[in-house]
Amino acid sequence: MGSVDTCCPVSKWCAISVVLAMVSVTTIVTLWTLTLTGTEARTPPWTSHRLPTTLKPLKYTVTLWPRLTPDPNGLYLFTGNSTVEFECVEETDLILIHSNRLNYTVPENRHLGVVNGVFAPGVRLSWLEGSTQYLVLQLYSKLVKGQRYRLYTAFTGELADDLAGFYRSEYLEDGVKKIVATSQMHPTHARKTFPCFDEPAMKAVFHITLIHPRGTTALSNGLETSGISEVDVTRTTFEPTEIMSSYLLALVVCDYSNLSAQQGDTLIRIWARRSAIEEGHGDYALSLTGPILDFFQEYYNITYPLSKSDQIALPDFYFGAMENWGLVMYRETNLLYDPLTSSNRNRETTATIIAHELAHMWFGNLVTLKWWNEVWLNEGFASYVSYLGADKAEPSWRVKDLIVLDDIHRVFAVDALASSHPLSSPEDSIVLPHQIGEQFDAISYSKRSLRFILLLKYHCLFCYQSYLNHFAHGNTVGTDLWEHLQKLNGVVLPGTVQDIMNRWVLQMGFPVVTVDTTTGIVSQEHFLLSPAPNLPSPYNYEWLIPIRWMKLSGLQKDLWWLMNKVNMDMKTAGDEWVLANIDVTGYYRVHYDRGNWEKLIGQLKADHQAIPLINRAQLVDDAFNLARAAIVPSTHALQTTVYLSAEREYIPWQSALDNMQYYYLMLDRTDVYGPMQDYMRSLVTPLYLHFNATSGWTNVPEGHTDKYNQVNALSLACSTGLKECQNLTTSLFRQWMDNATHNTIHPNLRLAVYCSAVAAGGAAEWEFGWEQFKYATLASDASRLLSALTCTMNKTLLERFLSYTLQPAMIRKQDATTVITSIASNREGQDLAWGFVRDNWNYIYTQYGVGSFNFAALISGVTTRFSTAEELQQLVEFKQKHSATGFGSAELALNQALERTQANILWLQQNKQDVLQWFTNQTLTH
Ligand SMILES: *[C@@H]1O[C@H](CO)[C@@H](O)[C@H](O)[C@H]1NC(C)=O
Ligand SMILES: *[C@@H]1O[C@H](CO)[C@@H](O)[C@H](O)[C@H]1NC(C)=O
Ligand SMILES: *[C@@H]1O[C@H](CO)[C@@H](O)[C@H](O)[C@H]1NC(C)=O
Ligand SMILES: *[C@@H]1O[C@H](CO)[C@@H](O)[C@H](O)[C@H]1NC(C)=O
Ligand SMILES: *[C@@H]1O[C@H](CO)[C@@H](O)[C@H](O)[C@H]1NC(C)=O
Ligand SMILES: *[C@@H]1O[C@H](CO)[C@@H](O)[C@H](O)[C@H]1NC(C)=O
Ligand SMILES: [Zn+2]
Repeated sequence: MGSVDTCCPVSKWCAISVVLAMVSVTTIVTLWTLTLTGTEARTPPWTSHRLPTTLKPLKYTVTLWPRLTPDPNGLYLFTGNSTVEFECVEETDLILIHSNRLNYTVPENRHLGVVNGVFAPGVRLSWLEGSTQYLVLQLYSKLVKGQRYRLYTAFTGELADDLAGFYRSEYLEDGVKKIVATSQMHPTHARKTFPCFDEPAMKAVFHITLIHPRGTTALSNGLETSGISEVDVTRTTFEPTEIMSSYLLALVVCDYSNLSAQQGDTLIRIWARRSAIEEGHGDYALSLTGPILDFFQEYYNITYPLSKSDQIALPDFYFGAMENWGLVMYRETNLLYDPLTSSNRNRETTATIIAHELAHMWFGNLVTLKWWNEVWLNEGFASYVSYLGADKAEPSWRVKDLIVLDDIHRVFAVDALASSHPLSSPEDSIVLPHQIGEQFDAISYSKRSLRFILLLKYHCLFCYQSYLNHFAHGNTVGTDLWEHLQKLNGVVLPGTVQDIMNRWVLQMGFPVVTVDTTTGIVSQEHFLLSPAPNLPSPYNYEWLIPIRWMKLSGLQKDLWWLMNKVNMDMKTAGDEWVLANIDVTGYYRVHYDRGNWEKLIGQLKADHQAIPLINRAQLVDDAFNLARAAIVPSTHALQTTVYLSAEREYIPWQSALDNMQYYYLMLDRTDVYGPMQDYMRSLVTPLYLHFNATSGWTNVPEGHTDKYNQVNALSLACSTGLKECQNLTTSLFRQWMDNATHNTIHPNLRLAVYCSAVAAGGAAEWEFGWEQFKYATLASDASRLLSALTCTMNKTLLERFLSYTLQPAMIRKQDATTVITSIASNREGQDLAWGFVRDNWNYIYTQYGVGSFNFAALISGVTTRFSTAEELQQLVEFKQKHSATGFGSAELALNQALERTQANILWLQQNKQDVLQWFTNQTLTH
């Protein structure tokens, strides 16, 4: 049981209640001792991070009043009160309700009342249990099963700038500092705003009232129903929410303006800073939202249940976006789009993120995961259908083709590590707030699930619709979904859906399928980048794998399911080759016998169009990864890139660049660097000339992916030292420096041009970029500049830039991680960034202690290049030195970094000489 000082380290009320508590503590201790002697030893419920199932919330009535000016101590505060109505499901004399960093004002204010009844027991003892984040109330007698009660509390909290709970964000408008009060409740921060049963399955209805300065706007999940103005403040009340989880609650008080449109019965609004709205930066989001909402209503066959859909762009936001029901929040760069200055990439990001968040209004909000161990249930499906939504909005983009790069390859990369984990973890292994945070670190883990949906490849719309209808307003676990998928009509599967899926969900990793065309035998095994014996699995690392394949002759084979080793019709003779996993609809890699690999590489060089586009990208990716796993030699992987001098399509190029990234990380501080640069320059020169001749560099090509490839051509040509390219970017940047108000560089090319010009330039270019960053009005331009500034080769500038990351006035907290990790990705900045993180870990960890995603990204970002025994040693020491402080959500990332460093050291030993030789030979033959 908590001692008196764990009770409440905080408020005035504490002082009173400690006194009260002192009297009764003895009684309680005695009671517990009595209980303990009777039965087996039990720990008191308030030491468990999971709520007991005794109480079930039904309705909250919450009033909050954020103060947008600091108090005399310089703190920004909010005050509030809340009445929660709950039902007693099992008899108990204990109320546990989440509460974190709230001070309760007066003890008398904490009333327990009864609904439709006469008696509610009094509160005998109450305290705040800091370690498990509860407000604990012990009652004089038991609550009655089936009876409803109300608990009233009044409290104060801090409106800090920590991006969690109800928090504060600031920006400048016409030289005036403006404050936005906003929120991020997901996953466990609602309890920092008001006391609540803060678990996703504890759904309830929320009645919200916000008190705010007159003239400001207040927003929440429901539409404003009344705004009563008093002397200084307005009291805005909102429609009650749907029955929903506390993590979906949203609150905003701001001085924004909006754009609106009516779509059927739904009011659509886009909110942003006044200047952004005036300049039309919300227009694109507004134009997409209606069609995407309509698409989902039809796709799910469930009407959007709210009367409005607000989306708001915030200056400081922890995640990229958050799907609060009815009030979706975004980083500015993700919602706003300026046709004049945003890039094609910004446009695609805006479309896909909006589609993703809106998909959550059904998958996630209407039907919600039961617990955080199955994040993929919310995220995976939303990720998948976001492509369908974006495809609906922008059909010419063929965004579905990009899944292979944006999701599959990224997920393969983490999932091939022995430290990966299954998609679903046992429920009781994800309990602490930082463990919950970790579920979102590697957001890609969750994306794996989209593979499973693709895996089935049957558009069983009916199943999803039936699933959503059946579980609307409820919570689910994975098996609920499989049971609904089992309703597939007329499709023959090699097992139940549950059996097929469990192999993909409960086992970590994925298989590599080996096709031996000399014998026709096809087999599978668990694919790992480095061998890891004795990883237990309930299915012995065997999957049921859907296989589609083709031959050179064009013969295509329908799907069949691989389980055990089988002899298929894959034997070939002569020039004939086999290609499996057509269009990469299955979540696995493919390996072939040497002869077949050579024929495929030969085909790429002779006429690459004979191999489908997505498979060209996949051959490169598979070869590189098989090489990393030491299944084929590295030089074999490099062979798959030779044909790129004739390739004009983006997807294979990007796949190769992503893979070459590893070679750069490992080799750009060694003597391989020169020959490697020569080879890459020779590969990219034809592509550079292609764009130089077709679109030039003041225009951009028509096609969506051609636009991306133009950028690749430019940045690779410049970074590998093509003089003509460097002259071009330097002169474009110079023109801008000559007239700062007149930037003629095309938005698509800006990042590449800035980076290359800053890299080639000196202090003058950097200072100019920094000035432009400080005064950038558009978030996307600011983020390009921030990223380009990390490209400098000047160590003094890099050090200065690093120091800015600890000064929020210079670089926003939300951007600090990105700046540090980008500096680490610059070969001149690698050591500086790592040294910086090492020296400042304690400070960073405590100052930036609320978020979690940042730490993991930070650790993996500054250690990606690690490949020497010395670096390994430093990492081990780092881990030891700070084990007391801890790593929070970076724990997993740190272990992955150790594993990766060891693998890198081995890789260098085994490959460096061969690779050097190979690059040198290529240069000679060119
Ligand atoms: C909650 O606080 C507001 C603002 O101070 C107040 O008007 C309201 O009466 C309070 N609610 C209850 C139930 O006391
Ligand atoms: C809560 O109380 C503690 C101790 O009195 C104080 O330091 C802290 O600032 C208070 N926080 C708020 C938000 O009132
Ligand atoms: C759901 O499907 C039924 C039957 O096809 C159709 O009549 C109805 O309009 C659909 N509802 C929505 C919201 O799309
Ligand atoms: C690139 O295009 C420019 C403008 O059309 C042209 O002057 C230049 O010669 C081209 N470069 C090469 C190497 O073809
Ligand atoms: C690049 O610019 C330099 C200096 O202006 C010039 O001497 C050189 O010829 C240019 N190189 C190319 C390839 O355009
Ligand atoms: C800079 O560009 C603006 C906009 O085109 C133009 O009005 C202004 O005269 C230019 N200034 C200089 C110094 O060239
Ligand atoms: Zn999501």
